[in-house]
Amino acid sequence: MRSFLLGFLSVATAAGSSGLHTLNKRASLGPIATDNPSGITGGEISCAAPPVNSFFEGTKPPFPTNGWWAPYAAPPGNATAAGPFPYQSALDGDGYVFGLSTNREFDGASVKQPTQKDWRVCFTEHSGEFSNHKATAWDTQTVTLQYFESDASMTVYGVPGSPYITFQFNESTPLLTTMNGGIQSFNSKSLPDGGNVTATGTEFTMTDTSNSTYIIYSLSSITLTANSVSESAGTISASSEFTGVLRLVKLEDPGHKAILDKHYEIYPVSVEQDYDLSSTTGTLSFTWNTVGSGSDLLMLTWPHHRLAMQNGNFPDTTALAYLTTKGYMYPALGNGWKMLYNLTSMIWDPPRKLDPSCSPTVLKGLEYEIGKLDPADAPIPGDFYYWGGSMNAIARLAVIADNVGRTDLISPVIDYLEASFDQWFNTSATTTAAYETAWGGVINKAGANNSWVDFGNGYYNDHHFHYGYFLAVAAVIAKYDQSWLNEHKDFINWFARDIVNPSVNDPYFPIARCRDWFAGHSWASGIANGAGSRDQESSGEAINGYYGALLWASVALSDDMVNYAKLLLATEMQGTQVYWHLYPDQASTDPNNPYPEQGLRDLVTMGNVEDWQSGAWLFWGSQKSQIAAIQMLPVQPVNEILYDAEWVKNVWDYTMVELLDPSIGDEWKSVIVDAYSNVNPQVAAQWSANMTTWGSGQTYTNELYFIGTRPNPAGTPICGSDTLPSNPYGEFLIQDTSSGNYVAVSSANTNLIASATSTSDAATFNSSFVPNSGTLQLISTNEFVTADQSGNYTLSATRDTVSAWETFVIREKIGGAAGVYSIQAVSNKQYVTVGGDGSLVNNGANEAAGSEFKFIPA
Ligand SMILES: *[C@@H]1O[C@H](CO)[C@@H](O)[C@H](O)[C@H]1NC(C)=O
Ligand SMILES: *[C@@H]1O[C@H](CO)[C@@H](O)[C@H](O)[C@H]1NC(C)=O
Ligand SMILES: *[C@@H]1O[C@H](CO)[C@@H](O)[C@H](O)[C@H]1NC(C)=O
Ligand SMILES: *[C@@H]1O[C@H](CO)[C@@H](O)[C@H](O)[C@H]1NC(C)=O
Ligand SMILES: *[C@@H]1O[C@H](CO)[C@@H](O)[C@H](O)[C@H]1NC(C)=O
Ligand SMILES: *[C@@H]1O[C@H](CO)[C@@H](O)[C@H](O)[C@H]1NC(C)=O
Ligand SMILES: *[C@@H]1O[C@H](CO)[C@@H](O)[C@H](O)[C@H]1NC(C)=O
Ligand SMILES: *[C@@H]1O[C@H](CO)[C@@H](O)[C@H](O)[C@H]1NC(C)=O
Ligand SMILES: *[C@@H]1O[C@H](CO)[C@@H](O)[C@H](O)[C@H]1NC(C)=O
Ligand SMILES: *[C@@H]1O[C@H](CO)[C@@H](O)[C@H](O)[C@H]1NC(C)=O
Repeated sequence: MRSFLLGFLSVATAAGSSGLHTLNKRASLGPIATDNPSGITGGEISCAAPPVNSFFEGTKPPFPTNGWWAPYAAPPGNATAAGPFPYQSALDGDGYVFGLSTNREFDGASVKQPTQKDWRVCFTEHSGEFSNHKATAWDTQTVTLQYFESDASMTVYGVPGSPYITFQFNESTPLLTTMNGGIQSFNSKSLPDGGNVTATGTEFTMTDTSNSTYIIYSLSSITLTANSVSESAGTISASSEFTGVLRLVKLEDPGHKAILDKHYEIYPVSVEQDYDLSSTTGTLSFTWNTVGSGSDLLMLTWPHHRLAMQNGNFPDTTALAYLTTKGYMYPALGNGWKMLYNLTSMIWDPPRKLDPSCSPTVLKGLEYEIGKLDPADAPIPGDFYYWGGSMNAIARLAVIADNVGRTDLISPVIDYLEASFDQWFNTSATTTAAYETAWGGVINKAGANNSWVDFGNGYYNDHHFHYGYFLAVAAVIAKYDQSWLNEHKDFINWFARDIVNPSVNDPYFPIARCRDWFAGHSWASGIANGAGSRDQESSGEAINGYYGALLWASVALSDDMVNYAKLLLATEMQGTQVYWHLYPDQASTDPNNPYPEQGLRDLVTMGNVEDWQSGAWLFWGSQKSQIAAIQMLPVQPVNEILYDAEWVKNVWDYTMVELLDPSIGDEWKSVIVDAYSNVNPQVAAQWSANMTTWGSGQTYTNELYFIGTRPNPAGTPICGSDTLPSNPYGEFLIQDTSSGNYVAVSSANTNLIASATSTSDAATFNSSFVPNSGTLQLISTNEFVTADQSGNYTLSATRDTVSAWETFVIREKIGGAAGVYSIQAVSNKQYVTVGGDGSLVNNGANEAAGSEFKFIPA
């Protein structure tokens, strides 16, 4: 395996230009740790889909699982890899197959560039045996492949961003076979079916019958014969064994030939990555190792590269361009790129205090939500994903309590988290983590042979989602319990090493498992289903993966690891803003617009970015609010940068039809309201009072705390000069204003009927706080009033405990007289009406249809 050098090849040229760089030091990023994780609770296990056994011959795990070339390694080893971009490729037994998709489609929801295979490249001596190819080296971006047969071989340098694909032949006879039609012409000579043309030299052009033109450059003279077998088949082969280098490049436009002619002699074989980190800025450097003068290396950039690149040497965009699903790749010269990112100054807290107007509500929320936590009821983990998301929401309560000075509320949270976390250390637990030895990583043991368990965790799907939550929860516990940290640090580090290992010197984990460094973001896809197309649907949770690592690094690891996690966070956010956030106002001609199709950008948010298509849709949900919210959650202060004003305003308008729709759950709405608070906290605070459920990954307290800690350009109190709307709390009689009758509950029948004509016959209810709503408890029996979801039955006081069905939103009725209220059931969002017989039923479609009630203090 080629080493991932943290060398001194790169020079800090960015320093002068930005002025931001003065105190940077080059991070010497050694491994987080090197101990063997086999002592993990679930011990060692081997995944049922180990690498194709010949592919990594002569090397040992850890192997990368989520990168662009995972399809080469994951069984059966012949799925199409989207890369090395701008190309797509697959390793067939009889050769390296590649092509460049010329078919760009927009179907109203997605842009697609379906896989296109143009050529297979191999040598005539090769037997076609599938096991006669392997990886000989790889690094954070590139992979070197070799096809071999006895002493004959062909080495392929898979370098993302190279316009040419480079093949080094060694005592082998090059053989190129068309995959997309036959050969139409060779060196501008047209070939009739059955004809052939022979030429000698260092440059050849070939056009296939589907009209794709490629240039073959040879670094030494070679004789090639093009054979038109038929309209749909053709070959180009050398006359004899060759030891030398061929480079193939798609010629999209004759005007591109000049730059390709000029730079073909310098080729990249691998890349070194380097980081120049301070606590506020990070420079990510790519330095390609080249044969030939590095300064003349021709590479291709994507929008996210160009936006961050310092002193880039960019030829005119007319010189060369390839349209991909990430927009146009344009040229850059030189083998060193430096990309500068601002690193967040936020670790735990937002950069400003909670607005005093929101304090009472946040404190009430903390008391309520923390008050409900009983360590004896702490959940037993059934998986990583749901457990992590819900525990992270609870962990945030401790961080918020600390930030607002309620340190007394921290330990109840920590006790609860520790009680639940303990099960990860329990060797008898049904859900355990194991060290997977075939690829090298920590997995959910139950998923080692089943990709349906925990979203494919055992097949390396979603590790950054899962372990980001896991690390965030562990970091919160560790922040407040040093002895827990001391006891469990190695264990938690195994998860950190699984997703943010920075070093080739960790013998057990690949480098930053999910990150595709050239693509500028992570992939959630691991090795399931042949590791076919890569995707990432939840950019919010990918970002949280690196945020969780940042929190953990801040309590348990070095400053360098803190800054490395910040760089991963900053780059994932940039990738998200460039490729997931869509900006309808961005010009189609903007060179950094990845999606020239206006109709796509009008959809405001990408749901899924894949390697051959990207679209405003999800595998699991079709609502606009779901597509947007999954790119926002979990809501945390560090997302202040992610929730850029233009995008969240567009999301607000675009999803408004759903925000107003009572049939759509608050889980997603509450996240969108939070993101919107980044531009208008006052309006968001008002809207937040509409929410009655927050989903397992969000809390009422976090919702309001985020809103209350936003930038506040208006300067007015964020939560209003008055308290936000709430139920009337206390002991009340309830009067139906139309009949004048009071609500009574007979002992025979627990239904609520507006039948009492005097207060002495009226029932007394204890109206108590639940976030943004409340319960009604019949004082005489201590039973809670319940309203079922169908809205077909009379409300009754029959429940010992409270769930959503026992909660109501009681507000002064809009347009009603002072002191007159409506009652809305949280269970079905319908308003309570009074029937002819006086029975209270939750069946009013809107507030106007609901009856009017007075709440008379008992
Ligand atoms: C990949 O290999 C498998 C197993 O050998 C085979 O069944 C399948 O047809 C191959 N797929 C392609 C696209 O060549
Ligand atoms: C060609 O292969 C032989 C072994 O068969 C090896 O010794 C030699 O270094 C290779 N040459 C190149 C240029 O790769
Ligand atoms: C090229 O075509 C000629 C005549 O059609 C044939 O004799 C010759 O063998 C062909 N050469 C190759 C390399 O196929
Ligand atoms: C290739 O180009 C020719 C001439 O422009 C055209 O007639 C033909 O339809 C094209 N073929 C394909 C497959 O696009
Ligand atoms: C980085 O921060 C500086 C100063 O705070 C700001 O001027 C610059 O626009 C930021 N750069 C990016 C890419 O956000
Ligand atoms: C460990 O897990 C098993 C299985 O769920 C459970 O019965 C046992 O009580 C747990 N042990 C501890 C110490 O929590
Ligand atoms: C996975 O392995 C377990 C334990 O050997 C076995 O019980 C289970 O059926 C297997 N699941 C699948 C999907 O093969
Ligand atoms: C939510 O609250 C806002 C502001 O208070 C209000 O304008 C809006 O109509 C409410 N939406 C729903 C669905 O109740
Ligand atoms: C009413 O509910 C509140 C909050 O749950 C509680 O503190 C109070 O004791 C209750 N009052 C009665 C009379 O049950
Ligand atoms: C509620 O009433 C409606 C209309 O009468 C009926 O269609 C529905 O099945 C009922 N639902 C339940 C749960 O009883």
